[in-house]
Amino acid sequence: MAFGNKEVLRNINFEIKEGEIFALIGPSGTGKTTFLRILNFLEKPIKGEIKYNGMKTPGVLDTRRRMSLLFQTPAIFNKSVFENVAYGLKVRGIEKKIVEKKVNEALNIVGLAGMENQNARTLSGGEAQRMAFARAIVYDPEILLLDEPTANLDPANVTKIEEIIKRIRNERRTTIVLATHNIPQVRRIADRVGILLNGELIEVNSKDGIFSKPKDARSEAFLKGEMIY
Ligand SMILES: Nc1ncnc2c1ncn2[C@@H]1O[C@H](COP(=O)(O)OP(=O)(O)OP(=O)(O)O)[C@@H](O)[C@H]1O
Ligand SMILES: [Mg+2]
Repeated sequence: MAFGNKEVLRNINFEIKEGEIFALIGPSGTGKTTFLRILNFLEKPIKGEIKYNGMKTPGVLDTRRRMSLLFQTPAIFNKSVFENVAYGLKVRGIEKKIVEKKVNEALNIVGLAGMENQNARTLSGGEAQRMAFARAIVYDPEILLLDEPTANLDPANVTKIEEIIKRIRNERRTTIVLATHNIPQVRRIADRVGILLNGELIEVNSKDGIFSKPKDARSEAFLKGEMIY
């Protein structure tokens, strides 16, 4: 992957398994967001291919509809919480009754039931992030891409978001790819971990493996916070 002549990601070759929480970690500027954007078809790599369910991408539209990306800085529309969350369903032309049911379910999951009518711009930071989360899960995506979903949140909201992530995976078997700087969070919720360093995936390992027996010395340094960057 390159922007102009600046190469950002190279030699990326790995598999994400159905129903797992895969954490993508690495220093700032290493390409985590770019990688999630590639998975979501928002960027096009110069080389290589991505297979979903072992098939060559059947159709961009169809695959895109089955996944959802929670942006690092989610956009908040100057509308009610309900309208913000309903957006993805309305563009899919879903019937009003079902929209209401799905939005209520999603707001329940993120702990914002009862706040449907509040203007979303007046939410606190933690509430806004949970609303964005509800918007991302409202149409039951099979794959959920989360870009730093707990950055800038207080510990109580971090815990809430982590609980929601685990619940979504456990109840819906959603495959989750989580980009994060937060190493304790990786310990708490990830199944497997990939470490990106200068645009290269230096190691992919199970969580236990990467913390107890990393294959690459740089992984160990990064996980211990000893890496200078
Ligand atoms: N559209 C773009 N045009 C030019 N350069 C870009 C573009 N998008 C990203 N980059 C560059 O690609 C590199 C990787 O960026 P990316 O946002 O993927 O990093 P990141 O790992 O998500 O960082 P952070 O942890 O700070 O969010 C950075 O050097 C960034 O400046
Ligand atoms: Mg990023």
